[in-house]
Amino acid sequence: MKLRDLEIALETIERRSEREVTLEDYPTPATIAAAIIYAAQMEHGDIIDKVVCDLGCGDGVFAIGAALMGARRVIGVDIQSKALKVCQRNSKLLGTDGTTDWVLGEVPSLEFRETIDTVVSNPPFGVKKRGADLVFLRKALSIARVTYSIHLAGEKNRQFLTRNVEKLGGIVTQVETFEFPIRRLFEFHRKEKHMTKVNLYRIEMKER
Ligand SMILES: C[S@@+](CC[C@H](N)C(=O)[O-])C[C@H]1O[C@@H](n2cnc3c(N)ncnc32)[C@H](O)[C@@H]1O
Repeated sequence: MKLRDLEIALETIERRSEREVTLEDYPTPATIAAAIIYAAQMEHGDIIDKVVCDLGCGDGVFAIGAALMGARRVIGVDIQSKALKVCQRNSKLLGTDGTTDWVLGEVPSLEFRETIDTVVSNPPFGVKKRGADLVFLRKALSIARVTYSIHLAGEKNRQFLTRNVEKLGGIVTQVETFEFPIRRLFEFHRKEKHMTKVNLYRIEMKER
């Protein structure tokens, strides 16, 4: 699938208007999700024929993107059942319901019986609940050979995350920067939209 076709498809997915502030429930724009999934396949072959897991799948933008790009099977996990209902509808709409499974659960306590090749995740940044980003990262690295994970940009955070990835037996192979638009979803947001720099980390486990 071409990048533009993936973007166009992901732009059609339904997005929830109500968001959970404590869960840092910010949606990834279709263009960013498409760019990440497309590059994961074209640069590294991490999507086609792979088992892909989206931790904190929200409306399913990464999971459905991976399925459209040719993943063999995709598992999307979220703690919000209303989000998973939207994922199911989106999956049907885009014809990926034969490839995708939606699991209601809390990321740290999940057990997977099958081998996951690639995790793609936009976890909570750990602003509302300190350490929430690390909880997701820890789970991702324990289940998959390759992880793509989005975090707040900044040198201090990069050093912190890289150190923790190494402690968990992984290695950061690539860091990309994106301008992430956060729309006014919550009462405490003053602007309609503000741009936040985020880093996408590609991580490989050293022995898996
Ligand atoms: C930043 S949003 C990303 C949503 C979606 N993946 C996207 O990129 O548009 C984080 C998601 O993680 C989910 N989440 C937060 N904490 C969780 C937990 N402990 N277990 C499972 N899901 C969680 C939220 O419900 C939310 O959908």
